[in-house]
Amino acid sequence: MNLYRAALALIVAPSLLLAVSYAQTATPPQPSAHNAIVNGYQSQWWKEAVVYQVYPRSFKDSNGDGIGDLPGITSKLDYLQKLGVKVIWLSPHFDSPNADNGYDIRDYRKVMTEFGTMADFDALLVGIKQRHMRLIIDLVVNHSSDEHKWFVESRSSKDSPYRDYYIWRPGKPNPASPTGFDPPNNYPSFFSGSAWQYDPGTKEYYLHYFAVKQPDLNWDNPKVRAEVFDLMKFWLDKGVDGFRMDVIPLISKRAGLPDLTPEELKNVGKAYANGPHMHEYLQEMNRNVMAKYDVMTVGEALGISLQQTPSIVDDRRHELNMIFNFDAIRINREGRQWKSWTLPEFKAIYAEHASKLDVHSWDTVFLSNHDNPRLVSSFGDDSPAFRVASAKLLATMLLSLRGTPFIYQGDELGMTNYPFKAIGDFDDIEVKNAYKADVLTGKVSEQAYLANLRHMSRDNARTPMQWDGSSNGGFTTASKAWLAVNPNYKEINAKEELADPNSVYNYYHRMIALREHTPALIYGDYKDIEPQNTRIFAYLRILGKEKYLVILNLSSDPVSYSLLGGLKARAIVISNLPTAEKDLSNLKLRAWEARVYKLE
Ligand code: NOJ
Ligand code: CA
Repeated sequence: MNLYRAALALIVAPSLLLAVSYAQTATPPQPSAHNAIVNGYQSQWWKEAVVYQVYPRSFKDSNGDGIGDLPGITSKLDYLQKLGVKVIWLSPHFDSPNADNGYDIRDYRKVMTEFGTMADFDALLVGIKQRHMRLIIDLVVNHSSDEHKWFVESRSSKDSPYRDYYIWRPGKPNPASPTGFDPPNNYPSFFSGSAWQYDPGTKEYYLHYFAVKQPDLNWDNPKVRAEVFDLMKFWLDKGVDGFRMDVIPLISKRAGLPDLTPEELKNVGKAYANGPHMHEYLQEMNRNVMAKYDVMTVGEALGISLQQTPSIVDDRRHELNMIFNFDAIRINREGRQWKSWTLPEFKAIYAEHASKLDVHSWDTVFLSNHDNPRLVSSFGDDSPAFRVASAKLLATMLLSLRGTPFIYQGDELGMTNYPFKAIGDFDDIEVKNAYKADVLTGKVSEQAYLANLRHMSRDNARTPMQWDGSSNGGFTTASKAWLAVNPNYKEINAKEELADPNSVYNYYHRMIALREHTPALIYGDYKDIEPQNTRIFAYLRILGKEKYLVILNLSSDPVSYSLLGGLKARAIVISNLPTAEKDLSNLKLRAWEARVYKLE
């Protein structure tokens, strides 16, 4: 090879690398020995990993259009690697008209134009693998966009070969209604109004559990299932490591679609979930897809109770690896209304998880994501006095409870809810539809609606990442980001926190490392030793002779506390406030203090 060709090879090599699937080039190291059984659990990389969720629209804008994108994420991979997370979950990055920020997919094999190109995706994947991390992507197949070519075909004629890809029904004749019909049944949409949309072209209704632009796919049609399995393989063959599955328990619809009873209408998620063929379809998906790859799957299990959880995740059933149960994260909600909760109720949820999920059913731990408000604002105290301590306490808790932890972007900085003032400050379709349905009709006052939204709106979590103190928090060079940056970016941002050894970010980094190197925090038994205490959460994680005590003061007051039962501390392994206190029978915990002790 002459010098010129050698130089050329060096220049083209990286781009060649991007063109081949990573699956063919290397595999990240397995953290645990293959097939090891630890405390009765089959060890798996996805049980040991900490997952970090990226909401691409709000992570980092690389080209100054005000919208986060894939090259933006690639530019921040060192930041994520340094944090110590091992899996990135990417919220939808597919071609979409963005009726619901990408959860309405127009083409499952194309990258959203605003986010970049397939080459950008390949580069992101290579960058992730080079850093020994893995990538899971969002699988949104309960519904597609109404702009997907299947739906465009489907609505074109009753005889279209794609008609049965979706769920069409004739309406109930009603001469008084403007269309001459009423919807086929009383199903409501999660985004307000009926779940049925009349289509004048063929004079029938189609079902949409979410927005009008999100028609539900008909999973009873084997062709639909085959299409889904194919698109999953398309991404897995590129080297993707698994899926977070959007509202997956809703895929199988009730036979005959009968009206919901008044009781069922109080909990529509439950009524729509767990349909007659759900398990059959998940097992078919597992046989056809997951069984052929080393992947992780986590289902967003809207409507699934803890009791039903093992029926999906028990590893002998070959369905999904894990699901998200919403009992803890939604303890502060009654329907769409914010409500208060008590610590004993909250702790009872984790105790129940530990008693109901045995060694065959792995759990998840999460208290935030793109559909919920900010972690520190909901479960901590985001006032200036306690924001940092309470964000660190929540990190201690998430990373020491039993199950794979999921961190949502920005929570590692202690980012807070946004000070929303008016309806115009929101982007979310859920907010806008409910405003029309509830406020404009006079059912709810504007003031009450906004007060509630400030606590619970999904847009709280969707404001852009705060990278530094420059304009728009360094998220974009555009004059305006797609959604306003939280004005507190000058104090709360990644640049400051990376430089400060006592920052929330650096605490997350230490806590993630502690979990990674402490098998008891991953596979250990869980025991709440103080279930009734209204301010203290104290629990043990035990693996053989290794015993850890996690002790958290979930209040903004100091608490004196005596631990009975003769437990003896050998060492403090981490704490969010400086302390040397080791006498467990006489503890003085400051507001939002968190400690992890190794016990004798
Ligand atoms: C759950 C997703 O997390 C949410 O963002 C979306 O609006 C609905 N599913 C519909 O896809
Ligand atoms: Ca951009």
